[in-house]
Amino acid sequence: MNAPALLAQVRAHGALPRHVAIIMDGNGRWARERMLPRPFGHRSGMKAVREVVEGALEVGVGTLSLFAFSQENWQRPADEIGALMSLLEEYIQREADELHAQGVRVRFLGELDRLAPAARGAVDRIMARTAGNTRLTLNLFISYGSRAEITRAARRIAEEVAAGQLTPDAVDETAVAARLFTAGEPDPDLLIRTSGEQRLSNFLLWQLAYTELHIAPVLWPDFGREQLYEAIRDYQARERRFGRVSA
Ligand code: FPP
Repeated sequence: MNAPALLAQVRAHGALPRHVAIIMDGNGRWARERMLPRPFGHRSGMKAVREVVEGALEVGVGTLSLFAFSQENWQRPADEIGALMSLLEEYIQREADELHAQGVRVRFLGELDRLAPAARGAVDRIMARTAGNTRLTLNLFISYGSRAEITRAARRIAEEVAAGQLTPDAVDETAVAARLFTAGEPDPDLLIRTSGEQRLSNFLLWQLAYTELHIAPVLWPDFGREQLYEAIRDYQARERRFGRVSA
């Protein structure tokens, strides 16, 4: 089925995921299949990012979270890290005006202090510029690892308790969630992972507790609107019980 027909089906069904998260996987394999260096796969992956943002706007999803660079990715060869960071700056430079015009609030979540100054500057500028937008929140996770995020929240809580600002009784799930990078945002309703892999890879371990999973067989550069709508159709066919029994 083509994208407009799938979109019509998604709309006819009604219940939309408020928050869609995606583990974008398979850029390297996409490049290898074409005998190209890995950065070519990442460049094609950037086009897929554009496609899914357009798709999310079209459907009316409120939040789109993309896992763009993990803490573990810092261990990749320096030239690949350099290529990814340049792409990130290029993406911001090329897309900032349009994202802003479309009402997208762009946020970067992760250990941003590890970014090189030029990338950090670009990230800070687009976040400040789009902070007031409300149509779609685009969360780009870079230099992100979920265990480190939870550990950081635990350390903050310990510091606040030690300083007498928080009592141990007040440490509940809300208190932990409020100290994660995603504080104040709804948990993802739908997680998509591309390239057929069935792992969470240290992404949003706390936030994905009740999220529906959709594994897409295609490599990330081949993912587009059509595949996004298919994933949402799959989500719409699920019965979400949050640990309870059916109505
Ligand atoms: C996983 O594929 C993908 C990444 C590590 C990087 C994701 C980056 C992009 C989609 C492009 C830039 C994004 C933005 C927001 C500008 P992989 O390299 O692990 O692929 P493989 O498993 O096939 O080797």
